Amino acid sequence: MSKLSVDVTQNGSVKSIDTSCTVDEIEEFDFSRLPDRPRPLNMERQRSFDERSLSELPIGFSPHPSSRAENTRLLDHLDCVFSPGRRSGFNTPRSQTGFEPHPMVAEAWDALRRTLVYFRGQPVGTIAALDSSDEKLNYDQVFVRDFVPSALAFLMNGEPEIVKNFLLKTLRLQSWEKKIDRFQLGEGVMPASFKVLHDPVRNTETLIADFGESAIGRVAPVDSGFWWIILLRAYTKSTGDSSLAEMPECQKGIRLIMSLCLSEGFDTFPTLLCADGCCMIDRRMGVYGYPIEIQALFFMALRCALLLLKQDAEGKEFVERIVKRLHALSFHMRSYFWLDLKQLNGIYRYKTEEYSHTAVNKFNVMPDSLPEWIFDFMPTHGGYFIGNVGPSKMDFRWFCLGNCIAILSSLATLEQSHAIMDLIESRWEELVGDMPLKVCYPAIESHEWRIVTGCDPKNTRWSYHNGGSWPVLLWLLTAACIKVGRPQIARHAIELAETRLLKDNWPEYYDGKLGRYIGKQARKFQTWSIAGYLVAKMMLEDPSHLGMVALEEDKQMTPLMRRSASWTF
Ligand code: GLC
Repeated sequence: MSKLSVDVTQNGSVKSIDTSCTVDEIEEFDFSRLPDRPRPLNMERQRSFDERSLSELPIGFSPHPSSRAENTRLLDHLDCVFSPGRRSGFNTPRSQTGFEPHPMVAEAWDALRRTLVYFRGQPVGTIAALDSSDEKLNYDQVFVRDFVPSALAFLMNGEPEIVKNFLLKTLRLQSWEKKIDRFQLGEGVMPASFKVLHDPVRNTETLIADFGESAIGRVAPVDSGFWWIILLRAYTKSTGDSSLAEMPECQKGIRLIMSLCLSEGFDTFPTLLCADGCCMIDRRMGVYGYPIEIQALFFMALRCALLLLKQDAEGKEFVERIVKRLHALSFHMRSYFWLDLKQLNGIYRYKTEEYSHTAVNKFNVMPDSLPEWIFDFMPTHGGYFIGNVGPSKMDFRWFCLGNCIAILSSLATLEQSHAIMDLIESRWEELVGDMPLKVCYPAIESHEWRIVTGCDPKNTRWSYHNGGSWPVLLWLLTAACIKVGRPQIARHAIELAETRLLKDNWPEYYDGKLGRYIGKQARKFQTWSIAGYLVAKMMLEDPSHLGMVALEEDKQMTPLMRRSASWTF
């Protein structure tokens, strides 16, 4: 049997992964061996679905026949370290550590259960917000992205049915014919949200979905399809039930999403070209082009699709295209989106107008376009993936979701993951402040705000998407912290949230430089604020849940890169 050992430093970070096994096996890294694991391994094993590593399909595509068998054998060994969801009925779960859970946890479960949406008698999702005081707008719908933390909470609590129903219902919606005016959208587009319509006269229920045709700005949600794939993998991982993912309908759904995002065009970059407002930040905020929020999700979805797709006649071609794209994408992101003190200094000294292959300043970025704040913001140790890179364009803003997903998907190398955590620690006031966590940093103000947002009054400086603080991001931070072996950072953030979230009735977001004010137009009882808190708590209590939302680094993808200033420990 292969051996996998993890060397953990005194401060709890993973120093090295020493292994006598192959790269395939590292894919199934034992997260539960990270520090602060409060309870013994759950040995009640269910067989996981076929975990496939990139190394099984090296560029050149000669899959080595023995690796699948090896994988399966290894999984038999390693699967036992993840704890498939334990069914605890529909009650508030009790602590696994023996300590009474925080009183907020019970309140959160009650609030979460009130948001359940039923379709023909079955739970199919959770409503975005249960705030009765405000105009509903579309907050009475089930949003795909908003449902993800709810789904994880239910999976962690051993209640996978609602997640399965949601995945199947949204899959049906994907097959609708989607039109905006006279233009037909791609087949694979997943809805941003859906709603159950009751006809009291006929006593029937139907679903209606929004693919962007009703959304503000009329933008299709690029992130929905990615979240759908990520959630399908989380469901499979958590339950050990691979039959859902293996259904021909699910396989087709994955392939349709893949053909959308892998389609050929005029691109010269492996990153995905996007319109503004196509993700969690769903209004104009200058995130068009190649936003990190989408690139990180794209990378994670590609990796999950690789694990889920069958290599049958139809799947094989996609698997090959995914592998190629992953290689190119990870190289591009790690090389050009990464910023630390050394990189910043390099850009500061860039020459412009360089032509040909020897150019150092490949995208012709003008050093004069470096914003003032970045020089103070950049710590000596630390770094992050910047917001956007394109021709003569670098958006230096820090985005929370993209950086956390980069860690979870192993788009970030181990060193980069630590550097992101170092930066969060060094810039705690700015990024966490009084309420975790800034959706992006810093805010755009004055003239720039007029130009970039189109004078959007909801996105004034330090509000909403423009430097607002979103409690939902707590689960992503917590997962990333646990993966890097630094759960104490998440613990501090959760403690901060616990001082206010319940008292303030679970706001959607907070405003102000430090996040001290309940957001101007924030909904109360915002479901993902509630679910995000629960997921963060459950993961800290049982870090083996991390396996649902994290993927280990595939060494085949590690490019030969210069070591950077922030990568020394
Ligand atoms: C807002 C958010 C979006 C979220 C929706 C429902 O539009 O920007 O990310 O999905 O509300 O909560």
